[in-house]
Formats: sequence, structure tokens, C-alpha cells
Amino acid sequence: MGTQPELYAVPVRVGKKKTNKMNNLDRKFCIAPMMEWTDRHCRFFHRLLTRRALIYTEMITTGAVLHGARARLMAHDPAEHPVALQLGGCDPQQLAECTRIAEAFGYDEINLNVGCPSDRVQVGRFGACLMAEPALVGDCVAAMTSAVKLPVTVKCRIGIDDQDPEEALEALTCAVEQAGVAALIVHARKAWLDGLSPRENRDIPPLDYARVYRLKAAHPSLDIVLNGSIADIDQALDHLGHLDGVMMGRAAYQDPWRLLAIDPVLFGEPAPFASPKAAAEALIPYIERELARGTRLNAVTRHVLGLFRGVPGARAFRRHLAAEAVKPAAGVAAFHAALALVADGSAQMVHSAAA
Ligand SMILES: Cc1cc2nc3c(=O)[nH]c(=O)nc-3n(C[C@H](O)[C@H](O)[C@H](O)COP(=O)(O)O)c2cc1C
Repeated sequence: MGTQPELYAVPVRVGKKKTNKMNNLDRKFCIAPMMEWTDRHCRFFHRLLTRRALIYTEMITTGAVLHGARARLMAHDPAEHPVALQLGGCDPQQLAECTRIAEAFGYDEINLNVGCPSDRVQVGRFGACLMAEPALVGDCVAAMTSAVKLPVTVKCRIGIDDQDPEEALEALTCAVEQAGVAALIVHARKAWLDGLSPRENRDIPPLDYARVYRLKAAHPSLDIVLNGSIADIDQALDHLGHLDGVMMGRAAYQDPWRLLAIDPVLFGEPAPFASPKAAAEALIPYIERELARGTRLNAVTRHVLGLFRGVPGARAFRRHLAAEAVKPAAGVAAFHAALALVADGSAQMVHSAAA
């Protein structure tokens, strides 16, 4: 664990604008923050599949960090690095305090959520509704960057409701760039705050990748990461021709086997394991450790269900876990038994994962 402080340089002022804090985090491929999905078990599992992806936590609100079960909420395994903590909030001082706490917990990056459209978040005046308050977001980022040596990033939409994405995204980008943001992650669709659920807000407002490409052209020195319906690694590669990075959410979670191709295809490095089955077997010591701490088997294995899509026995694997792993006394034997039902892939599978 640790923040590898030697990798980060202090912010430097050039004219009125703070430069991005130097850091060696590679954001070429990021796994999106997803509430109730990218918990610490999921992140540990994803890290077995790719050494190089930058992994994001679920959003944690400033209120939860400051007044909630902090140790539990912020817990992560040393193996998860590089891992970014996503915060939800809109009070610069509270965000600065949470950022300090996150640094002490060993996170590698702190990300501010300016994209979540849920009602609960709107009542708190944070998430996507902050797209309408770029100056406040700038103040938040400035307070956060001043508080720590870690890189601070923002995840946003291209606009909300009737905003013009040309103006709204530009205003937000200028505000956070000025405040020293290390990278901007843009979910390339608007959020419609009135009338659409968070789930609908992930699919219904139309995608506009071209808007994000234009943003990069207008801000060439700012790291810009694209998010939104990136379905496979070929699509990721196309976007990487225009942008600094891509962030994959649902496709990574629902089809985690894709992650085995990230290191070879995007980074020219060997995959951590030759097959999904080998990766699953490597999860067993973690499962045993977690069971010994009182974690339910299903809390870990629910994230693994999509690992064998298309492999003979995948359905039997899922069905076995669905029936057995949820039992309160389920032990690691249930996972062994599920794995015995599925065929082993080969290195070939890792290559086909890229297709
Ligand atoms: C179950 C779920 C939970 C999510 N929770 C968060 C969150 O906590 N913070 C956030 O910024 N985005 C959250 N999102 C949005 C994703 O990070 C991402 O922006 C969105 O799913 C679009 O990317 P995709 O099409 O690759 O999935 C969530 C998405 C899903 C599916």
C-alpha cells in the first residue's frame, strides 16, 4: 500500500494556471466507478485480469467519509493499485478534508463526481447538477488539489437538460483546468435530470463522442478520457486515436473476460493469466481470506458471473453459484465446484477477447 510520493511533484504555477500535478498514472484504460458494483471485491478481481487498468471505486459522499463508517468504506486491498477514489460532494472544504483522508488511506487519485443524475444526489446539490455551476466545481478542485499531492480528476457529462454542450462542457473544462485538474473524464452524453432515472440516463440521452474529440482539440495539454457505451477493445482503440484514455463501465463489469486483453492489446504486455479459468483459480486464496473474515461467498463471486461468457460450461457455472454461493454458510468448495463445471480456455481466448 502507499501513495508512492516520489512519483508526484508539487504543483507548479505557470502564469495564473496551475499545471497538472505530475504523476505517472496511466489513464489509457480505466474501469468506471459503479455503485454497488465496483466494491473492493470486484476491484480485487478486476486487478487479477489486468495489471494496467486504472480502477475506480464506487462514489463515496463527503458526508459518508466524514461521518460514516470510514474505515469500511475506504478499505481497499494493496493489490488494487493503481486505484482512484471517487468522491461525491460540493463543499470545497469538506472535499479537501476527504481528499486528505483518502491520501492517508493510500489512494492513487481522487476523482470528483460531476455526472451522477440521481434524485438523492441532486438534493445534495452534487453530481451532474454541478455541470450548471462550473465556478463552484473549480473551487472544489482547487481546494482538493491544494490539500494533497495526489492527482485530482473530475468525471462529468457533456451537459445537463437544456444546456448547450459546446458551452457547458467548455465552461466546466476551463474551470477545472485552471484549478489544476490532472484529467477530465467525460461521459459523452447529457444527463437529463428531470424525468429520467439514473439507469435511463446511461442510455437514453444520445452519445456525442465528437463533442469530446473537439474538447481534446481545444485543450490539447489536458488529459481527456472518454466514457460512455464503449463496448469492446476495438472501439477503445479507435477512441485512443483521438483521446488520452477510455473508461469502460458496464462492458467491463458484465464481461470481465474482456479485461484479460487489456494488457496485451493496449500496453504490449503479457496478460496476467492465460485463461479466464486460470484467473478465477487465482481468486481462491482471496476468497478463503475473505470467508475467514466473515465475508459471504456471494459478495465476492457475484462479480465473477460473467467471466466465462461463451465458454462451454459457463451457464452451469453461473447457475451453480446462483444456487450455492448465496447460502449463508457457503464455503470455497462451492466456488471450486462451479469452476469444475466450466472448460479451461487457452491463450487463444485472451486474443479473442480483444475482438
Ligand atoms: C450500476 C452502476 C453504478 C454506477 N455508479 C456510478 C458512480 O458511483 N459514479 C459515477 O461517476 N458513475 C457511476 N455510474 C456510471 C458509470 O461510471 C459510467 O459513466 C456509465 O455506466 C457509462 O459508461 P458505460 O457505458 O461504459 O457503462 C454507474 C453505472 C452503473 C451501471
